[in-house]
Amino acid sequence: MHSFGYRANALLTFALTILALMCAMASFSDNLNSPSPSAEIQILNINWFQRHPDGNDEVSLTLNITADLQSLFTWNTKQVFVFVAAEYETPKNSLNQVSLWDGIIPAKEHAKFWIQTPNKYRLIDQVLQSF
Ligand SMILES: *[C@@H]1O[C@H](CO)[C@@H](O)[C@H](O)[C@H]1NC(C)=O
Repeated sequence: MHSFGYRANALLTFALTILALMCAMASFSDNLNSPSPSAEIQILNINWFQRHPDGNDEVSLTLNITADLQSLFTWNTKQVFVFVAAEYETPKNSLNQVSLWDGIIPAKEHAKFWIQTPNKYRLIDQVLQSF
């Protein structure tokens, strides 16, 4: 005769094995998704350009951002953080990276969008040499 403890142990072991298998399958299924996000950015306007008293240049742009990020969303995606960064080279720095805009996409329904916006973060170029 199998005791109650033995049966409970067998049931629990079986349940946990199934659970582990399902977790493994769910985790693996995420690898089958090959996302193909696309985005396009146009500069619609240069709103203003100014030189600061310290010599640095600042520009304000109007951007037209079009993106289709729907393929990034799977059952395993909570949200998508998206940002636009300007990268450019100057004699002083071989790589300048300035974040211009960002956003959080909370759901697949919002992942295909276009937005016309001025740069959210200031684009200031470091001109002066600091000795
Ligand atoms: C901005 O992009 C959208 C989508 O590509 C386009 O329909 C729209 O005409 C663009 N706006 C301007 C002012 O170019």
